[in-house]
Amino acid sequence: MRIDILTLFPEGFEPIKQSIIGRASQNKIIDINLINMREFSKDKHKKVDDTPYGGGAGMVIRPDVVYDSYKSVYKENSKTIYLTPQGKTLNQKKVQELSKEQHLILICGHYEGIDQRVIDEIAPEEISIGDYVLTGGELPAMVLVDAVSRYIDGVLNKASIEEESFTNNLLEYPQYTRPEKFLGREVPEILKSRKSSKNR
Ligand code: ADE
Repeated sequence: MRIDILTLFPEGFEPIKQSIIGRASQNKIIDINLINMREFSKDKHKKVDDTPYGGGAGMVIRPDVVYDSYKSVYKENSKTIYLTPQGKTLNQKKVQELSKEQHLILICGHYEGIDQRVIDEIAPEEISIGDYVLTGGELPAMVLVDAVSRYIDGVLNKASIEEESFTNNLLEYPQYTRPEKFLGREVPEILKSRKSSKNR
């Protein structure tokens, strides 16, 4: 899967360059590209936002900047998502559905949001990661990338995915490892008597 992330803050994406998702990118299992929308500004000072028509606090991202960056990555098989608190709340079913796509384009808003005309033109699916407001779509985009990547073949080991579908995708049971006794608390007897695959 290819994922193109349109953002004004590409330097904020360090967390998904680490650990499991980082390794999957290095191994070319997922291809994550950060597109800095500022590079699509036609302004000599690389300005990307302006004051809202009708007044109000904050700044709004210009439609041409978003549209040109979108056009630079769009293909016929692209699925485009705009991360916004007004969107439909992400859940595991949607995550699984998105993991079957070949190409995701994630649009991250910032400031007071993005000019509505480019949202109407592109008509992306609008997704929220919960009923609270963040300062931008960058953290939500990383949450989505992390959750979706887990379902892509080769990112996790097969046993983890199988165990997860067994537990209805969400409900993990409590886990224990060594030492057998920690601050007076014991590993449950039933687990100690069961041989693990690692042959304790
Ligand atoms: N941008 C700001 N807050 C958000 C949220 N809760 N979900 C998705 N995008 C957002």
